[in-house]
Amino acid sequence: TQHFIVIGNPIAHSKSPEIHTLFAAQAGIDIRYQRQYCPDDAASFAAVVEAFFHGGGVGANVTVPFKQVAYACCQSRGGLSEHAKVAGAVNTLLLNKALLNSGTPIAEALYGDNTDGQGLVNHITSLGWPLDGARVAIIGAGGAARGAILPLIQSGIGTLTIANRTVSKATDLVSELSAASTSISQQHITTCTTNELSGQFDIIINATSIGLSGETLPLNDALNTRYAYDMMYGRTLPFLEHFSARGAQTSDGYGMLIGQAALSFERWTGHSIDVVQDTKALNAK
Ligand code: ATR
Repeated sequence: TQHFIVIGNPIAHSKSPEIHTLFAAQAGIDIRYQRQYCPDDAASFAAVVEAFFHGGGVGANVTVPFKQVAYACCQSRGGLSEHAKVAGAVNTLLLNKALLNSGTPIAEALYGDNTDGQGLVNHITSLGWPLDGARVAIIGAGGAARGAILPLIQSGIGTLTIANRTVSKATDLVSELSAASTSISQQHITTCTTNELSGQFDIIINATSIGLSGETLPLNDALNTRYAYDMMYGRTLPFLEHFSARGAQTSDGYGMLIGQAALSFERWTGHSIDVVQDTKALNAK
């Protein structure tokens, strides 16, 4: 049996165990995937992770509020993937095999990846929404937006606009990411405030945390899109209702959750997953 955990605080609501259990059944392998509560401090996080991998654990997912803490842990140990570096956050932990083979202790071989943004792109692709050459707008400039930018650019989008309540956070994010990645510095990116965002887009993505607050975004009446995506899921999302009423196709972020999980599972086990098959099973629950 291969052991996996998802570390978070709170963690009781996490759907990762049921998602990964379905993946394991599809791949025909025997796994145990558990929710792991952790006190909200960096030392506790490092202790939980070390105990897990010393006990023979294969891989761990990291969720709120530990993605940046996990990034710092891996940076000073076994390293980070390019996506984790650009996102400034880690959602997938594993051990760096090359380091282990060269005699590095387990605790020093911790390696971090980030599959959130690619999970989003894979879900958008599976919906049949064309990304190649698309005019894309992201609303939000926090962690969720940051993780989506490199995978979206790598998918071949045409133009990218980043809108945020605090526009300086959007411009700072673009400068920072352009310095970190040549694919990002070569992409023409414009920024504006959320209510200034207007005109016709192909895909608009809500990457703010507003879905949780009950507030609504101040969307411009001259803003239109063919497709609207909200990274949140599990409740009625005013952002999606707004664009649905204006004729757009919409999706919440549940498929992104499944998409990032599939990429983590593949990274850990080498088995690739037919996400569509398991999405049907999860939706039927
Ligand atoms: P996450 O990791 O979910 O992205 P975050 O890093 O705290 O969380 O970022 C939250 C994002 O939601 C930010 O873009 C924030 O806008 P500001 O940068 O202006 O703070 C946005 N956000 C949160 N609440 C909002 C609200 N009530 N109206 C508009 N934007 C909001």
